[in-house]
Amino acid sequence: MAATRVGLIGAGGVAQRHARVLSGLPDVQVVGVTDVVPEAAAALAEQYGTRALPDAAALLGEGLDAAYVCVPPFAHGAAERLVLEAGIPLFVEKPIAINWDVAQEIASLIARRNVLTAVGHHWRYLAIVEEARKLLSDRPVRLVTGAWLDKVPPVAWWPRRDRSGGPVVEQAAHVLDLARCLAGEVTEVTAAGNGTPPPVDGADVDGATVATLRFASGAVGTLAATCVLGWKQRAGLEIYADGLALDVSETGLVVRDADGTHTVGSDPDSAREAVDRAFIQAVRGEGDDIRVPYAEALRTHALALAVAEAAVTGRAVAPASPEASRA
Ligand SMILES: NC(=O)c1ccc[n+]([C@@H]2O[C@H](COP(=O)([O-])OP(=O)(O)OC[C@H]3O[C@@H](n4cnc5c(N)ncnc54)[C@H](O)[C@@H]3O)[C@@H](O)[C@H]2O)c1
Repeated sequence: MAATRVGLIGAGGVAQRHARVLSGLPDVQVVGVTDVVPEAAAALAEQYGTRALPDAAALLGEGLDAAYVCVPPFAHGAAERLVLEAGIPLFVEKPIAINWDVAQEIASLIARRNVLTAVGHHWRYLAIVEEARKLLSDRPVRLVTGAWLDKVPPVAWWPRRDRSGGPVVEQAAHVLDLARCLAGEVTEVTAAGNGTPPPVDGADVDGATVATLRFASGAVGTLAATCVLGWKQRAGLEIYADGLALDVSETGLVVRDADGTHTVGSDPDSAREAVDRAFIQAVRGEGDDIRVPYAEALRTHALALAVAEAAVTGRAVAPASPEASRA
């Protein structure tokens, strides 16, 4: 079978990772890469033995089977439109946009054109997430406590609200996606930010945010996020059901019930590889394991935006509904 021809739009940190994983998959060719900073595209191209193209149109002109959009949150929209016009499968990094309008517009285009999509919520590919789902299958969730307690990542756009969307939209979205996966949809959130940015140049995001979540099932939850540390303290989710406590993170699952406590280790890299492998297999018509297509990521994005809005306004917010938006 011919190699699957993939192009990368954006050549930063996460594009490097996808280039590495894709280059290691059998029968995948990274055909080219483009970036608004040509030196970034050239560096990635050299490292992975591919070509740097001047823009997304030129990259698509190479004849791709799939495209990865790996741009910062504020830059989403134009690249996706071009890929969708070309009608080829689209992988988009999270968060899928900085706001609702762009994400919803792209979701509508995808639905109209019936294009295969995947989003980089790779936590869904952790084997321990499947295990947690099984453990919860016969017990309703009562309480969810999520946290992302970390540093400011070393990219200039991150601490700017108008560039990243803020820590909840940009980073804690992984935890919110996991909460949706394990506890179902959230119907209402309240939140508060501390009003003090992290101690880095140009920062205007809250250094700390807390939120409460009300789930459709009746469960309640909290999310805590901070970016004022110099290290990653914790990113994960605790889930409580009758007689069962689960602690899920990228690195492991701790299960406690009446019989005692046991721990299952986890390799985050395996999930980072699995998300690309599943997408490529679907592009090749050899698999059907895309766990977060764009429409699913849109729901997580709506939840993250609701938390961000509640923190700014101080009001309770219901996450936007993709169905209502289409009506
Ligand atoms: N799923 C994950 O685990 C994971 C991990 C890291 C980053 N990410 C996400 O990936 C996205 C990018 O993060 P990053 O760390 O690679 O950032 P980065 O700043 O290192 O790289 C982004 C690159 O995109 C380029 N760019 C900006 N606008 C562009 C445009 N319109 N067209 C082409 N290129 C453009 C920039 O010049 C830069 O080189 C973020 O949304 C981030 O949350 C996801």
